[in-house]
Amino acid sequence: MGMVKDKARLDWKNLPFDYINTECNIRYYYKDGRWSDGELVSDEMISLHMAAPALHYGQEAFEGLKAFETAEGKIVIFRPIENAKRLKRSCERIYIPAIPEDMFLEGVRKVVKANAGFVPPYGTGASLYIRPLVIGVGGKVGLGPADEYIFIIFVTPVGPYYKGGFKPVKAIVIEEFDRAAPLGVGDCKVGGNYAAGLRGRQFHIDKGYPIGLFLDPKEKKYIDEFGTSNFIAVQGNQYITPDSSSILPSITNDSLAVISSDMGMDIIKRPVQIDEIENFDEIGAVGTAAVITPVTLINYRGKDYNFKDGGNAGPVITELYNRLVRIQTGDMEDKFGWLDVVE
Ligand code: PLP
Ligand code: COI
Repeated sequence: MGMVKDKARLDWKNLPFDYINTECNIRYYYKDGRWSDGELVSDEMISLHMAAPALHYGQEAFEGLKAFETAEGKIVIFRPIENAKRLKRSCERIYIPAIPEDMFLEGVRKVVKANAGFVPPYGTGASLYIRPLVIGVGGKVGLGPADEYIFIIFVTPVGPYYKGGFKPVKAIVIEEFDRAAPLGVGDCKVGGNYAAGLRGRQFHIDKGYPIGLFLDPKEKKYIDEFGTSNFIAVQGNQYITPDSSSILPSITNDSLAVISSDMGMDIIKRPVQIDEIENFDEIGAVGTAAVITPVTLINYRGKDYNFKDGGNAGPVITELYNRLVRIQTGDMEDKFGWLDVVE
């Protein structure tokens, strides 16, 4: 499976955020204490023992990152080393053997290169979503970490996570359900957090809100994060984001904070009380899939809090979005060294 030269025939400008089969995925197997070499395969299926710990005890961790095509036709991956580090942390927490950073980077680069025909063309607004995942396999019934693992990286071309791309959405605060426990794994990217979050997700969807905002699971006093993205607020010259042990440290949030600081803003990471929302000028939901989605209304205990006039995206969030996307697609100088060019 070599470099695919021609682009796949897809409706690039109207891609959903969903799975589309590509050329191949890459797999590594862990057995007898070591990882195998990576293997590119076209098979979309995996064969597992029915007693695999990933299936009944949820021993699974994953990542999400993106590759883009630049105007010159180069393929670049956004900050993959950060995802390698985060996966390492997630693995440690649920007793999955470490995936060396080099192996992670090699796998990501190889699978992106082999699927070059599925990297959305420059200017379409779409990207190649990269999904690494690791699962505990082999038959085991007593509770304990698996003896064998499979690490897979698949890719899929995607459009915006929320319909319409950079368009404001409204959110509702979820107090009825938690996604993470105070001393749990809310700060790790593990499958169990997302299963736990499904009830909260159904709650906000049933109420007609595309996004739900979770509060801290202990006191319901502080803002944690949205179901699939971090919370940021702009107040005057401040970029404010919650400091909490039960939220995922977002690489997009980190990147936007760096960009904001470069724009002369003050970066404030601190516990943020839900009662403070009326003071904020602009709110954003930030993550790899969500990029930065402007949140122009938050419903909290039946009351609507509005941000910015007429439900339009605010100026700071709009500027942050433009800068981030321009860096990711090579239109703006990569002055922070975030792009990994696929050779
Ligand atoms: N929070 C949660 C719960 C997520 O699932 C994600 C998505 O990865 C994020 C935040 C954003 O993280 P990142 O910017 O690294 O994609
Ligand atoms: C991502 O932004 O990469 C995510 O993981 C969100 C996903 C849960 C849809």
